[in-house]
Amino acid sequence: MIASVERTSKLRGTRRGAGRALCQLDDLTNPGSAAFVVKRGAARLSVLVVRRDDEVFCYLNSCPHIGAPLDYQTTGFLDVEGLNILCAYHGALFRMDDGVCISGPPERQCLTPLGLEIKDGAVLALGW
Ligand code: FES
Repeated sequence: MIASVERTSKLRGTRRGAGRALCQLDDLTNPGSAAFVVKRGAARLSVLVVRRDDEVFCYLNSCPHIGAPLDYQTTGFLDVEGLNILCAYHGALFRMDDGVCISGPPERQCLTPLGLEIKDGAVLALGW
């Protein structure tokens, strides 16, 4: 499988319906990923979004190993097969659908999940 083209965005998000709109589902390649920085009051939340077919998952962009951003010196979050989330710092792999580490230093630890909703083709933050 060809590695997906990754896109990094620094969107603040806009209010739409019940959640903050991060992007359109069609903006993400399949499989694919993107980074977002969302303003939350005075804080800035760095998150990653990954897509597999019609499923989209969101996690904090912070590796449970040492707290580094997973896309350290890279432009994406997926391994070359597009199956798992890759931490570029030390090469840990995390399952896309639950964020559990399956290989690498943070063994059995998980990425921090954040809720998402897809509504009318928009990917919306849910509850954050
Ligand atoms: S910082 Fe992610 S594996 Fe070490």
